[in-house]
Amino acid sequence: MNGTVAPVLGNRLGAAGWDVVPWDRSAVSPDDASACRRFIGDVNPSVIAHLAMGAPDWAGLMAEEAASRGIPFLFTSTVSVYADRTVGPITVDSPTDSTSEYGRYKIDCEERTRRSYPDAIIARLGWQIGDAPGSNTMVHHLYDVAGHVGTVEASTRWFPACSFLGDTAAVLHGLIERSVGGTYLVDSNRRSSFFEIVSALNRIHGHPWRVEPIDEPILDMRMVDERIDAPPLTTRLQV
Ligand SMILES: NC(=O)c1ccc[n+]([C@@H]2O[C@H](COP(=O)([O-])OP(=O)(O)OC[C@H]3O[C@@H](n4cnc5c(N)ncnc54)[C@H](OP(=O)(O)O)[C@@H]3O)[C@@H](O)[C@H]2O)c1
Repeated sequence: MNGTVAPVLGNRLGAAGWDVVPWDRSAVSPDDASACRRFIGDVNPSVIAHLAMGAPDWAGLMAEEAASRGIPFLFTSTVSVYADRTVGPITVDSPTDSTSEYGRYKIDCEERTRRSYPDAIIARLGWQIGDAPGSNTMVHHLYDVAGHVGTVEASTRWFPACSFLGDTAAVLHGLIERSVGGTYLVDSNRRSSFFEIVSALNRIHGHPWRVEPIDEPILDMRMVDERIDAPPLTTRLQV
């Protein structure tokens, strides 16, 4: 619950009447399998949601516990399971072909999860957009880059997978409530380039950055999944 996405989902579930129990890894080490199983037994959850980093074996253990209890297990994955591509959009049938360390790690976690629990809910998220700097989001990245370099260069030919945090939390909440296992792609970007997104965020934030259009990279990482109902990014960007 100290991360970026988890507290937003936690608040949303709390507001909907759920009792949300954080996993404090200083109290229950993810490396101690028996302590993990004991903790899950003590909490006796009706759902387990995994929105942290951590070893694939830990994801597998939580998936196994959820499967044996017959409760939903949500694992949050990432668009980074896909290698960079210039032709999009990505669909759920696209191969997970990432060669990056992070992408391969998340593919391992997904596989470990599915092996333990074929009906797990796996949600691949795009880059998250928050309201302020200070967490793992695009907005934080933009403040960071502008702080160091002065100018934000943004490609007019890069179409990133991305969503506002609140919309992601709403989708994850829906997936938990619906509890239909499978792999889902969670992306609000239907047609906006990185330059268009950054320019709109710059306006929303009161023009803190100088944004310059550039031609590279040329990438289309948008993900489409008709089962996911989230407002388009353009609505949130007011463009
Ligand atoms: N933010 C994004 O733009 C984005 C994009 C695509 C996908 N995702 C996915 O969404 C999920 C949540 O991401 P996030 O951005 O919220 O992450 P985050 O802000 O970086 O938080 C990560 C959380 O993981 C925990 N963690 C770190 N190392 C760990 C370890 N070795 N073992 C167990 N837990 C560990 C941390 O717990 P402590 O508080 O205990 O340190 C922290 O709460 C992740 O699965 C991520 O891959 C995020």
